[in-house]
Amino acid sequence: MTSTDAVILVGGLGTRLKPLTLSAPKPMLPTAGVPLLTHLITRIRDAGVTHIVLGTSYRAEVFSGHFGDGAPLGVELEYVVEVEPLGTGGAIRNVAGRLRGDTVLVFNGDVISGADLPALMAVHEQADADVTLHLTRVADPRAFGCVPTDAEGRVTAFLEKDPDPVTDQIHAGAYVVKRSVIDSIPEGRPVSVERETFPGLLAAGARVMAHVDAGYWRDLGTPGDFVAGSADLVQGIAPSSALPGPTGPALTLPGAHVDPTATLRGGATIGAGAVVGAGAVVDGSVLFDGAVIGDGATVTRSVVGFGARIGAGTVLDDVVIGDRAVLGAGLELRAGARVWPGAQLADGAIRFSAG
Ligand code: GDD
Ligand code: MG
Repeated sequence: MTSTDAVILVGGLGTRLKPLTLSAPKPMLPTAGVPLLTHLITRIRDAGVTHIVLGTSYRAEVFSGHFGDGAPLGVELEYVVEVEPLGTGGAIRNVAGRLRGDTVLVFNGDVISGADLPALMAVHEQADADVTLHLTRVADPRAFGCVPTDAEGRVTAFLEKDPDPVTDQIHAGAYVVKRSVIDSIPEGRPVSVERETFPGLLAAGARVMAHVDAGYWRDLGTPGDFVAGSADLVQGIAPSSALPGPTGPALTLPGAHVDPTATLRGGATIGAGAVVGAGAVVDGSVLFDGAVIGDGATVTRSVVGFGARIGAGTVLDDVVIGDRAVLGAGLELRAGARVWPGAQLADGAIRFSAG
C-alpha cells in the first residue's frame, strides 16, 4: 500500500447544529459516548492508515486538547490550524507540508460510514487515478455534491448542492488524491474542493474515478441526522470500533443514574453523570454529560446539552437543548425547536404541538 497519510477536514463552523456548536466544533460533539471524530479516526486506523493530519480552524484547540498525539487511539495525529477558514480545498493545501506519501486519503470530519476504504484505495491504484471519490446513493441529493459517472466508473461532473440533481449518487466525503493534485491547489486563499478543484480537474481532463459503496453512510450535519447517526451507532446499525460499550437499545455511560422505572430505547445515549428520573422515557436521543431529565419527562429524537435540566413531565420531540439550559415542568417543545445555552423556561411556559 502506498497510502501513508490521511487528512481530516474539521474546520467548519457547524452552523446547522447551533447552539451545540457554540462551544464545541461539530466533530467533537459526543456521539454514542465519544467525540464524533473518534469513530472516523478508528475507522481510518482499522484500514491501516495511522498518520492522520487534522485541518482545523474553528475552535482548533479543542481537538488537540482531547486527542493529543493520538497514541491512545493507536495513531499519530498532527494538527494544522487555519487562522481564517480556507475552505475544504484550501485546508488540504494548507496541510501539504505534513504529508509523507504520494497518495492521500481525505475525509470530511462529520460523516459516519461503513464504506470499504481498502476497496476505495484499490480502485484508485488500479485506475492510476488523480482522484478517486467514495460515492453513496441518497434519496435526496440536493444537500450534497451530485456526482454522475460513466459506464467505466469515471466521474463526468461534480455538481455541488445542485437543486436539480441528475443522479442519486453523491460525494460521500471521502476521497483518495495524488499528492501532485494537492500541490496544484492555489495557496493562501480560500478554495472549495467541491466547487473549484474537482470541477477544474474534470475540465482539464484529469482522471477522476468513483467507487460507489452501498455500506452505511450518514452526514451528521443537522440535528436530525446527528441524533439518528448516534442512535444507529448505539444499536450497531452503523459500524464503529470506538463504541464505549456493547451495542443495544441504549448506551449508559459510567456515572449516569437511570431510575429503574425509566425507559431507554431507540439507541439513546445517557452521558456520564446524567440523571433520568422515575417514569421518564428517553428515545433515540443524546443526553450529554450531566444532563438531568425530570420524572415522567419524554425525550424523543432530541439532544440535551451538557448539564441542561428538563423538568418533570416535559415533552421534547426533535429539539436541541443548549448546555446548562433549565426547562421547567409541563413544557412541550417539538419540531426543530432550539433552546440556547443557559436559557431558563418557567413551568408550562411553552406548549407547542405541530399540526
Ligand atoms: N479545515 C477546514 N477549513 N475544514 C472545513 C472548512 C474550512 O474552511 N469548511 C468546512 N470544513 C470541513 C467541515 O468541518 C466538515 O468536516 C467538512 O469540511 C465538510 O463541510 P460541511 O459543512 O459538513 O459540508 P457539507 O456537508 O455541506 O457538504 C460536504 O459533504 C457532503 C457529504 O457529507 C461536501 O463535500 C459535499 O460534496 C458532500 O456531498
Ligand atoms: Mg457535512
